[in-house]
Amino acid sequence: MSSLLRFFLFFLTFFLVPYTTQQFACNKREVDVKRLSFCNKSLPYSVRAKDLVSRLSLNEKAEQLVNSARGIPRLGVPAYEWWSEALHGVSNTGPGVRFNGTIPGATSFPAVILSAASFNASLWYKMGQVVSTEARAMYNAGLAGLTYWSPNVNVYRDPRWGRGQETPGEDPLVVSKYAVNYVRGLQEVDISGNRNMLKVSSCCKHYTAYDLDNWKGVDRFHFDAKVSKQDLEDTYQPPFKSCVEKGRVSSVMCSYNRVNGIPTCADPNLLKGIVREQWNLNGYVVTDCDSIQVFYESINYTASPEDAVALALKAGVNMNCGDFLRKYTVRTVNERKVEESVVDQALIYNYIVLMRLGFFDGDPRKHPFGKLRPSDVCTKDHKKLALDAAKQGIVLLENKGSTLPLSSKYVRKLAVIGPNANATKTMLSNYAGVPCKYTSPLQGFQKYVKRVYYKSGCQDVKCQDKSSIKAAAKVAAAADVVVLVVGLDQSVEAEGLDRVNLTLPGYQKSLVEKVTNAAKGKVILVIMSAGPIDVSFAIKLKKIRAILWVGYPGQEGGEAIAQVVFGYHNPSGRTPVTWYRKEYVDLIPMTNMNMRKDRSRRLPGRTYRFFTGKTVYEFGHGLSYTTFIKFLIHAPSKITIKRSFEQNFNNTSNQTLFLPTDKQADDKMIIDVSEVNCKKLDYAVAIGVKNEGKMDGGHVVLVFWKPPVWSEFKGAPNIQLVGFERVEVKAGKTELAVVKVNVCEAFSLVNEQGDRKLVTGRHELVIGSPSEKWLSHKFTLRADETIKDHQI
Ligand SMILES: *[C@@H]1O[C@H](CO)[C@@H](O)[C@H](O)[C@H]1NC(C)=O
Ligand SMILES: *[C@@H]1O[C@H](CO)[C@@H](O)[C@H](O)[C@H]1NC(C)=O
Ligand SMILES: *[C@@H]1O[C@H](CO)[C@@H](O)[C@H](O)[C@H]1NC(C)=O
Ligand SMILES: *[C@@H]1O[C@H](CO)[C@@H](O)[C@H](O)[C@H]1NC(C)=O
Ligand SMILES: *[C@@H]1O[C@H](CO)[C@@H](O)[C@H](O)[C@H]1NC(C)=O
Ligand SMILES: *[C@@H]1O[C@H](CO)[C@@H](O)[C@H](O)[C@H]1NC(C)=O
Ligand SMILES: *[C@@H]1O[C@H](CO)[C@@H](O)[C@H](O)[C@H]1NC(C)=O
Ligand SMILES: *[C@@H]1O[C@H](CO)[C@@H](O)[C@H](O)[C@H]1NC(C)=O
Ligand SMILES: *[C@@H]1O[C@H](CO)[C@@H](O)[C@H](O)[C@H]1NC(C)=O
Repeated sequence: MSSLLRFFLFFLTFFLVPYTTQQFACNKREVDVKRLSFCNKSLPYSVRAKDLVSRLSLNEKAEQLVNSARGIPRLGVPAYEWWSEALHGVSNTGPGVRFNGTIPGATSFPAVILSAASFNASLWYKMGQVVSTEARAMYNAGLAGLTYWSPNVNVYRDPRWGRGQETPGEDPLVVSKYAVNYVRGLQEVDISGNRNMLKVSSCCKHYTAYDLDNWKGVDRFHFDAKVSKQDLEDTYQPPFKSCVEKGRVSSVMCSYNRVNGIPTCADPNLLKGIVREQWNLNGYVVTDCDSIQVFYESINYTASPEDAVALALKAGVNMNCGDFLRKYTVRTVNERKVEESVVDQALIYNYIVLMRLGFFDGDPRKHPFGKLRPSDVCTKDHKKLALDAAKQGIVLLENKGSTLPLSSKYVRKLAVIGPNANATKTMLSNYAGVPCKYTSPLQGFQKYVKRVYYKSGCQDVKCQDKSSIKAAAKVAAAADVVVLVVGLDQSVEAEGLDRVNLTLPGYQKSLVEKVTNAAKGKVILVIMSAGPIDVSFAIKLKKIRAILWVGYPGQEGGEAIAQVVFGYHNPSGRTPVTWYRKEYVDLIPMTNMNMRKDRSRRLPGRTYRFFTGKTVYEFGHGLSYTTFIKFLIHAPSKITIKRSFEQNFNNTSNQTLFLPTDKQADDKMIIDVSEVNCKKLDYAVAIGVKNEGKMDGGHVVLVFWKPPVWSEFKGAPNIQLVGFERVEVKAGKTELAVVKVNVCEAFSLVNEQGDRKLVTGRHELVIGSPSEKWLSHKFTLRADETIKDHQI
């Protein structure tokens, strides 16, 4: 081979191949783009999308309404697979993504439940950026799509839920902030300055009140979630609202379940009314796979497939994961059950998204991300961020007598025991891809200690056989320190599989007890799980000196755990869920959606906002190797609410201002948020954080709000997170944490009709968490005279 030819081949492999493999529309070589307005980059997206749709036959239209869109070859529009996933890294769970020798893997971040525990919004944004960079590089190589049906922003309402691992936990504010940051990281194009362009398209799912998979025979396809207006407004909807309004997400997915009798994908109020009109979605509504078929076949919601299609399209569905719309749309239109214009509008929403992604701009090499290559996947920086995310999320639950960190100098013989001690795939959780590499806990420890002894103690996580426990105990007896890595995996908590109890599976408890009993030295318990586990029995065992929760920590999980145990990283994560006692599951069936405590029906309430019983660990709990002192620098002490200037003075008094029959009328007013000028009600709470210990470390400042207790207002939360900020503080130094709050968002209560209200009177901010000293700050909320005048 001549050197010229060799050079040419080299050039071909490294420069051309990655670009020619991807699919795109408006290729000059295939069609006369000058004659096709939808290819004209100078025209607005909506004009281009309308032009394209106007050229299609009804048959062609139906073929584009589903995830595997067939394309329109005569117009140079190739087939497109809409379904790709990127929950915590580019994943091959959806058919739009695959790995091969060109890009064998992608950065696999921890399960969302662990990244959430970092309470670090800029980390969530950066992860989104890394994932979208890798996704674009994979698209350029012909290995991935541009539309990602991630993240999952359902509130982790019940600890038994098998998909809790995919979510940022039980608090609506944390879930909302996660959604906004991750979505922005995925979607934002900062190079062009064009806000409407998309790096990749993201999707918030599953809308709404979806958080039951399969529990004691009740599955998500048949489940009718009975949700109160109050719970819907202040728990289930906020993450979706934030995702659309603040994250500017380009897609929302409706779920499988029904909400109050209506399948979400057939509910015009939920889709058209709220997502499209109220929140102003700039994007498309997609069904879960295949929700339309599910409400037709599983619950016989409609008499015919055509009726199901008509309902879904009219409700506001634009895209169907599945093939129901491809099969039945033509007949539905021909039977006049839905107008063709509804189909057109659905397609226009879909195509605008593809246009914002540059899919219709011809040669993608000219696209701002056209230069991303296979070498932009699994870079050193990306892998480091995956490690960082795991380290920032890990929660130190228990540290008796400051046992941790261990000094690797004094640990000569380390026993690493447990069914998750050499976990690899388990660390990736679900919706994972192929990771760049793995570092299992065992491999992590092997880097820091020379003599490491490993025994699994159980065949697997279910641990239904106790025969391996003896050997594990023997190893423990000979080691200076034992690290026990127990927990769960996809065989216990998964999509389609909810838990029925909160205990360690099978003989794992027995393994912990026997190994601890036999141990010569200290025992460190590491819990690898998403869902909380009642480990009260382990807390009581004297030799168990420390407990860590590591979620499912992603590809670098083992390295992160070892760094925390040996003090190369000071833990600062906080649990994003309540760790209930095991009896909790007997108090409320998973099918009950009520967040609120209800004495008459003996419901205990859910999450830290409403549950007041004893717990194993409370939401927000997490220890550090150093000591932080917090002090309040600034917070509002008097807040005056003013009426919105746009409102008329003469027609609002009756419906919005309600005077309770209390004598102290002046102090007690309930004011509808819609009547208040909310824009002028932004405040900052500034907190000083001093690191009084000897080790640098991160500290999460949690700002909770306690509303005044009024018997007139039913169902107010006991306490509610209104802001958080994470700071890094060097030993001996002080840093400032500033939490911004908007009065209407942070200090409003939702009544039983689902309306947001401000209540006047004495309010309280409590800063900290149950494991620290609380800082308390009281403030008054009063109404401006113009509001009061109208009372009379
Ligand atoms: C593209 O649209 C712009 C704006 O309407 C127009 O001026 C231009 O002629 C169009 N280009 C082609 C090739 O039609
Ligand atoms: C991987 O797939 C892409 C897209 O089909 C292809 O261009 C590339 O040659 C494949 N790489 C290998 C090593 O097979
Ligand atoms: C739905 O209808 C089918 C056929 O008409 C019937 O076999 C099935 O039992 C029905 N399912 C339900 C849940 O009613
Ligand atoms: C730990 O897991 C890795 C990956 O599955 C495997 O290659 C290795 O042999 C395991 N180590 C032990 C000691 O079993
Ligand atoms: C708890 O549930 C798991 C399945 O999630 C089951 O394997 C185990 O036997 C249950 N334990 C008890 C004590 O019921
Ligand atoms: C009061 O209401 C009437 C009728 O709704 C309206 O025409 C008028 O402008 C309002 N007055 C003020 C001061 O807003
Ligand atoms: C306010 O309520 C009073 C008494 O219920 C009623 O007479 C009046 O018409 C109402 N005003 C408005 C503007 O609705
Ligand atoms: C009050 O006035 C506003 C602004 O003119 C109007 O939008 C609203 O519908 C009125 N409300 C009632 C109850 O008349
Ligand atoms: C948040 O995460 C980013 C990315 O890992 C990191 O650079 C930053 O230091 C973190 N912030 C804090 C306060 O820990």
